[in-house]
Amino acid sequence: MILKQICVVGAGTMGAGIAQVCAVARYRVTLVDLDPKQLDRAKESINNSLGRFAHKNKLSEPVSTIMARIEYCQELAVCGNADMAIEAVYEDIEVKTGIIQELSQVIDSSAIIGTNTSAISITALAAAAIKPERVIGIHFFNPVPMLKAVEVVRGMETRDDTMDVTTQFITSLGKRPIVVNHDIPGFLLNRINLPSNLEAIRMVEQGVATIEDVDQGVKLAFGRPMGIFELGDLVGLDVTLNACDAIYNETKDPKYLPPVLLRRMVKAGRLGKKTGNGWYAYNADGSKVVPASSATKKD
Ligand SMILES: NC(=O)c1ccc[n+]([C@@H]2O[C@H](COP(=O)([O-])OP(=O)(O)OC[C@H]3O[C@@H](n4cnc5c(N)ncnc54)[C@H](O)[C@@H]3O)[C@@H](O)[C@H]2O)c1
Repeated sequence: MILKQICVVGAGTMGAGIAQVCAVARYRVTLVDLDPKQLDRAKESINNSLGRFAHKNKLSEPVSTIMARIEYCQELAVCGNADMAIEAVYEDIEVKTGIIQELSQVIDSSAIIGTNTSAISITALAAAAIKPERVIGIHFFNPVPMLKAVEVVRGMETRDDTMDVTTQFITSLGKRPIVVNHDIPGFLLNRINLPSNLEAIRMVEQGVATIEDVDQGVKLAFGRPMGIFELGDLVGLDVTLNACDAIYNETKDPKYLPPVLLRRMVKAGRLGKKTGNGWYAYNADGSKVVPASSATKKD
């Protein structure tokens, strides 16, 4: 099966990144969002990101050629001609189920529906589709244009050829498919990573260490390019909380029980870079404005 036309639903952080990497890999892309402001923001962020790649001579075509492959739409009906649709809307089972149901009614019966969910069961989402065997988890990591790993997650009904076409598609994007053979809560990489993130939050909550020291420590000791809290702000505190809640609710494993501090931060609307305030505080250009500890001490 040759894929040509990709439809991405949800033009937030992840949807914009997914649309960008598909267009760079020469797929035609339709990016869909209910909110026209999100579509404008996505277009600007894709253009800026491509500009940075062009500046480093990392693109084989002009930015304008790549940008011209992406269409921006508010109606899901435009996905009718897509060979693959990837949903990247809010991490909410009802919203995602509604999108998958609608998508499976408009796209061709041979087309694949991918979901970029962080922690909702692929099998549960696939149950909303007319052809659950064509539904699969395609879990990109943030920032999508930079990070090469993509989990390809098999739901209970996902057919082998759906897995094969999807892993080939991910490879065609210049990324490395990480095959996850069972639809377990949190899949593979978050199952490994989240417990250490939550432990870091607990250490800060208990006053054992500051946010800056944790971040410096993991960068200098473990060679991570970003600190746990820096990355947490990029991912979104709400995204992390939702992922942990989803894994905890299914497994009851206390390793994934979110600390009160994380819940409080999300309640306060401190969601990270996207709200200008999270573990760190940010200027409009994304630079930090105050030390991390003063951002959390206001609680
Ligand atoms: N942020 C991350 O680091 C990250 C990493 C991996 C996976 N994910 C997953 O990717 C998904 C998207 O996350 P995000 O951070 O990009 O979210 P986001 O909040 O940045 O964007 C979500 C977008 O979905 C749109 N939307 C909501 N309902 C819609 C509908 N019915 N039709 C069309 N558009 C709709 C919203 O307008 C918004 O633009 C989530 O499932 C999340 O768990 C996020």
